[in-house]
Formats: sequence, structure tokens, C-alpha cells
Amino acid sequence: MSDTVNEIKQRLDIVDLIGEYVKLNPAGANFKALCPFHNEKTPSFIVSPEKQVWHCFGCAKGGDHFTFVQQMEGVEFPEALRMLATRTGVRLEYRDPEEHNYKTRLLDLCRHVAERWHSLLLNDPAAQAARDYLKQRQLSRETIEEFCLGYAPDSWDDAIKFLQGKSFTLKEIFDAGISITRLDQSGQAGDKGKPYDRFRHRLIFPIRDVHGNIVGFTARKLREEDTGGKYVNSPQTSIYNKSQVLYNLSLAKAEIKRLGYAILVEGNMDVLAVYQAGTKNVVAVSGTALTGEQIKLMGRYAQNVMVAFDADVAGVTANLRGIDLLWQAGFNVKVIKLFGAKDPDELIRKNPEDWKKAIREAKNFMDYVFSVTLEPLDLKRVDHKKLAAKKLLPLLAKLGDAVERAHYLKKLAEILSVPEETLAKAILKFEEKKPSLKKTETPPITIEPGRAVAEHLLALLIKFPKELELVMQRLKPEMIGFSPAKLLYSQLIIYYNKDRHLAEKEVLAALNAESADYFNQLGLLIDETAFNDTPDLLHHEIIQATGRLKELYLKGRLKELSVSLALAEKQKNETEVTSLTEEISRFNSQLGEL
Ligand code: GTP
Ligand code: MN
Repeated sequence: MSDTVNEIKQRLDIVDLIGEYVKLNPAGANFKALCPFHNEKTPSFIVSPEKQVWHCFGCAKGGDHFTFVQQMEGVEFPEALRMLATRTGVRLEYRDPEEHNYKTRLLDLCRHVAERWHSLLLNDPAAQAARDYLKQRQLSRETIEEFCLGYAPDSWDDAIKFLQGKSFTLKEIFDAGISITRLDQSGQAGDKGKPYDRFRHRLIFPIRDVHGNIVGFTARKLREEDTGGKYVNSPQTSIYNKSQVLYNLSLAKAEIKRLGYAILVEGNMDVLAVYQAGTKNVVAVSGTALTGEQIKLMGRYAQNVMVAFDADVAGVTANLRGIDLLWQAGFNVKVIKLFGAKDPDELIRKNPEDWKKAIREAKNFMDYVFSVTLEPLDLKRVDHKKLAAKKLLPLLAKLGDAVERAHYLKKLAEILSVPEETLAKAILKFEEKKPSLKKTETPPITIEPGRAVAEHLLALLIKFPKELELVMQRLKPEMIGFSPAKLLYSQLIIYYNKDRHLAEKEVLAALNAESADYFNQLGLLIDETAFNDTPDLLHHEIIQATGRLKELYLKGRLKELSVSLALAEKQKNETEVTSLTEEISRFNSQLGEL
């Protein structure tokens, strides 16, 4: 197992892996980025190509390839292992429980049949109609390949035969949703229960889960006059949970993360057109309403969504299709207005520039709803005011963000020229006991006071151990509030007092495991650019950091002491008051000396 892990690490540079999710900037020997795991304005997320590890000094997360994928994708280790194994072409030796095996079989099956359909589309004479159709839809060869589009031939058993030839069983073919079995009247697969291909003479769009595994298919008819619905879809299967899949998320996620927003469209064809136009952060709901699970999934990559749903102006409020869930989850939602086109695909084919412009001019969803709702109304009329309130208040009640809600409530009050309190009261009626769909609760990150300074100082000391002598005289370990830093500092002092030097290898051997890890992490903080600092500057920096830590310590103690003092005064405990007062003045004068 650990061989597999090492093999993967060897094949895939951690910088390339992480670079797919976050924008990395070179910083000396390392790379820096804004941490993807917490909100920050200055980058404290560091990737070391040399050590092949990552660490964030803001939220203290860190680790290797696998921990990164686990946290980024919200998966457990086995899943991260599987993803990275697929990605690097490393074979997993171990065998999992039966069910997992069976799912893996079905995923293999889907991959095989997708490849078959794809190669038929590219090469088979019978697929000429499909190729012509794609040409007419202006899809490039590159797009066709990237999406692995395919052609399912006009046959009742081509896919079944093909898969049986790959030694898949009829049960597996059925369970993956590729075949249909006609049932007899008692619901059993009787004589007539001969299985047949679900997709016949159709353009195939493989559907991938967020990791890129093909889990199902949707298939478009090639001529309007063909029988059946415009699209035929795979059924829900053990590998395809429809409420958890967003079409194209696997290809779009890195770009969604990079740009900070996702573009949400309704049609598969729209995804292809939008992606091909260079806006790759696009996903589709495939004609259904958004589910909470899909929203959660999207929330891993961005909190902003632009929707480009069919511009059915009249139906916009009725046709929210789950957008209200997006609000409840606290997403910012904007609307991309499609002038003169029924969907993004059509707009792009008319003029790609119009599409880019529409994105730039996307309007806040609530503003959009306001204007659409109010436009046909005459707001001097009382009945129209009531109507406006009746339409808009239920929507405002659904807004997850209190500030935003207050903003729009005020706006509505002004527009209707009624007191805000009246609306505030009226809105309560609409606050249903909503099934709460909160953002995945990430606890706010509290950064211990002085932690950053302490870590900076320690990092400097690791690179410039000679300075420890000086720092030791001024800074006692207990003055460092952040315990891992305190621990490492005191261990460094102990080691130094014994051996009078700090050679990295020897120090590491002397530290306990926890501190050794920490020592390595901190080593990442300072890259060789720091060596360009003149000794004077360095010295100055170290003195400053030391002073700052001392100051924080003294201020913290003073705060505690003044609380105790207040208590002692209240309890009229005179001796305590005297001793506390003395202590306070001592700390105060130390603070003054700094
Ligand atoms: P084009 O008509 O080729 O441009 O396809 P489109 O993807 O733009 O489809 P449309 O806007 O008509 O519908 C949006 C989405 O709804 C489609 O991508 C499908 O996911 C879904 N959909 C449309 N028609 C059907 C249908 O007949 N059956 C099913 N199951 N889904 C459909
Ligand atoms: Mn369309």
C-alpha cells in the first residue's frame, strides 16, 4: 500500500497537483498561494517542491498529496487514493469490500462503453449523421474529444454485445443502466425480458461525477423527427446518483475555483458551447431543479453562481428551479441576461462577444427579479403595491444573508413608499420552517494572538541559528502563547544549551516527533530570498519579533490581572488587591521598557 502511495507521489509533482486547484506563485524555492481552506487576503499557503508537502500558516492545515485531495474534494483517504491512482496510472493492488468492487466494475463498464461510442463517433461510417450534426452545432474536434462525446449505433444490442465481449455480465450491463429489460405483466423479466440497448442512434454525452468517473449518459436524438424524447438518460444506479451530479463539474471545478464563480446553465449543449467559447467554469443542472447536494458540491469550489437559464421573463419567479436554495445556502447569485437568444448556445453561435458581454453585465439576481416583477406594475395603485409585496416578500424571506435581506427590504419599502417596519412585519409570515440548508459549517478560524510572529521568529531561528543566543536572553518560552511554537522554542533552547549549536539534522533528531514536523513546516516559511537580507536587517527583524512577542505576552497578562483585580476589589480582598496592583505596575513598567 505504501508502495502505491510513494509511486503516486513520484509520478505526480505536488506543485502540479495543487496548481490545478489554486493559483501558485513562485516564492523563492517554494510556491505561495491564497489558502483554499480559509479566507485570507495575503497568501500563507505554501507548497514545497523539494519536500513535496504543503502547509498553511493561517489555518495550520498541511500535509501531502493525499491530505490535500481529501480536504479539497471532501473525500476520505481511500477515495483520494483511488483518484490519484487513476490520475497517475498507478495500479491499486489492494482489494476492497465487495460492494466497492462491484461499483468499480460498473465504472469500468461505463468507461469501456463510452470509449466504444466515442470511437464509433470519430471513425464509424454509420456515425456520419452524428458527425454532420455536431458540425452543424459548431462543436470542434477538441470539444468532442474533451467531452468524450459518442455515437450509439442504431442497434438493439450493439452495446450489450460489446460489453459481453469485454466479459461484463448481463446483470452488470443492466445495473450500469446501459440495457433495458422489458418486463412481463407481473413485473418479472419473463420470456419477453430479453435485454436491449437503452441508447440507439443517438449522440452520447457521458456524465461524469466530480472526480471525472463516467457514471452515466445522456443521449440526444439526431433528428427532430426521431422517436422518443429529445434526451434519453441513464437511470439512477448505484454509481449514478442524479441529485449529486452536476454535468461538467469535473472539468469545470478548477476554473470555478480560480475565478471564484460557477456559471450554471440548463442544457448539456449549452455546457459544450459555453466551454468551447473559453468560459470553462460552466456546469449544468440538466433540465432538473438544483438539489441541496449539488449546491453543497458546488460550494466546495465557489460561493458565487451566475445563472444563464432560459430567458423566460414571465416565468422567472415561478421558475426558480432551486435558485432559492442557493440563497438559503448563502451563495451570491447573478443572472446572465440573454438578449435575443433562447439559451447560451444560441447566443454564442450568433456572436461570442455578446456572451462575454452578457457575463460582464450579469445582474444581481434579486435586482433582476425586482425589475422583472415591478416592470408591469403601476406602483401608484394600492392593489399593485400589494401585488408587488406579495410576489417579492416570499423571495426575500428566503434570502439566507441577513444583510442582503435588510438591503432589499429597504429597497422595497422605498419603491412602494411604505414604512420598512410594515414590510419587516409582513415578511415574518413567509418565514416558513424551511428545511435548513446551511453552508457546510466551517468553524471560523481563530488565529491565536502572536502566532504568526512566533512562527516567523522560529523560522528565522531555524535558518539563522546563531541568533538563538540573543533571543534566549530576552524571550522566555512562556511568553509565546501558541503552544506548538512554545514547545519547539523550549526544545531548541534545551538542545542549544547542551550542544551550543543547532545543526539542522541533529536538531531534528533530538526533537520529539511533533516538534520535528513543526520544525520542517516552519522551514518552509523562509525561503532563500531571506538570505539576501543583510545581517543587520536580519538582526533587526529578529529583535523586533522578539519584542513584539514580549509585548503581546505582557498585554495579555495585564488584561488577566486587571480582571482578577476587579474581582478582588469586589470581594474587598485587600491583600489580594495590593499584590495584584504591584504586579500590574511591574508588568506596566516592563511594557514601557520595550
Ligand atoms: P438543444 O435543443 O440541442 O440545444 O439541447 P439543450 O441542451 O439546449 O436542451 P433544452 O434547452 O431543450 O433542455 C435543457 C435540458 O433539459 C437538456 O439539456 C436536458 O438535460 C433536459 N431535457 C430536455 N429535453 C428533454 C427530454 O426530452 N427528456 C429529458 N429527460 N430531459 C430533457
Ligand atoms: Mn439549446
